Amino acid sequence: MSATGYAVRAEGLQKRYAEKKGAKGGPHKLALDGFDLAVRAGTVHGLLGPNGAGKTTAVRALATLLKFDGGRAEVAGIDVRRDPRLVRRRIGLTGQYAALDEVLTGRQNLEMFGRLFHLGGKRARVRAGELLEQFDLVEAADKGVGAYSGGMRRRLDLAASMILAPQVLFLDEPTTGLDPRGRGEVWDAVRALVAGGTTVLLTTQYLDEADRLASHITVIDRGRTIADDTPDGLKNRVGGDRIEVVVARAADLAVAAKVIARVSATEPETDEVALRAHAQVGDRVAALTEVARTLQDEGIAVEDIGLRRPSLDDVFLRLTGHRAELEAAA
Ligand SMILES: Nc1ncnc2c1ncn2[C@@H]1O[C@H](COP(=O)(O)OP(=O)(O)OP(=O)(O)O)[C@@H](O)[C@H]1O
Ligand SMILES: [Mg+2]
Repeated sequence: MSATGYAVRAEGLQKRYAEKKGAKGGPHKLALDGFDLAVRAGTVHGLLGPNGAGKTTAVRALATLLKFDGGRAEVAGIDVRRDPRLVRRRIGLTGQYAALDEVLTGRQNLEMFGRLFHLGGKRARVRAGELLEQFDLVEAADKGVGAYSGGMRRRLDLAASMILAPQVLFLDEPTTGLDPRGRGEVWDAVRALVAGGTTVLLTTQYLDEADRLASHITVIDRGRTIADDTPDGLKNRVGGDRIEVVVARAADLAVAAKVIARVSATEPETDEVALRAHAQVGDRVAALTEVARTLQDEGIAVEDIGLRRPSLDDVFLRLTGHRAELEAAA
């Protein structure tokens, strides 16, 4: 690993795409516009950003699949531009779209990938067996991939990218399109990989996914790094916890907001549909106690009351001035 303790470093990466394919000198789009990244060895690092932010471009550039136009990048201590072949030997990549053969079984797929990576027939068989076990696919091993659930497919895809036991694994939106159960299965698999010593760079549009898996998060927007922090550090930037009260009767909402206003430095917000009032608080326990007591004294029926840590969604809004979801839907 790199002497600096970083498995991946990028400084000022730039990537220009011609707006029309092959049209050199025509209009360009800057997909990466001074992108910076530093991933500590042995960690899961989240690369978080909305649709079109430049996540796939960054991953493909770091994985040597795409030439970048400016800046520097190092993977496993190796200069990406100078030694792409050496980099390729240290990395695995799972793309946004899986490259599995539907007709073959899970085991056959892994053996085929093993042969593609020049393992001998016997070695490929043994490695396939190990990976099926590691990714909890033993029972499904001899079924056709066509019959796999989304979560099983992604796990098989992860297994395929681990054939050569790479030091650094790039996962490009590994849970997009999965149901909650499939997402949970992939998260477990990623945690197991990191416990085994692999460094994972994981791109995601899901704020909660980065929060759960990553020890560090880089937020990318329009090809540029706009934040780089721990999940908690990011959350703290939006300024601490919020108190939330849901009232039983619409007529009580305004009173609840007034009660909250007494313990909050910010103006409470109200949601007339959800019958919810909420605001930022400093001393969380004191605020909760005070609000609960006052509401009871005033005879207001409370459906729910609680404290909420700010979500990464709130952070994105604060950092960019727009919501991640809206951009993703566009
Ligand atoms: N081959 C290409 N030619 C031209 N423009 C491209 C090409 N690939 C990507 N782009 C543009 O570059 C920008 C970054 O795209 P990229 O695919 O890296 O984003 P992303 O963050 O991976 O998005 P998503 O979450 O949708 O996967 C987008 O504006 C996209 O339209
Ligand atoms: Mg992408």
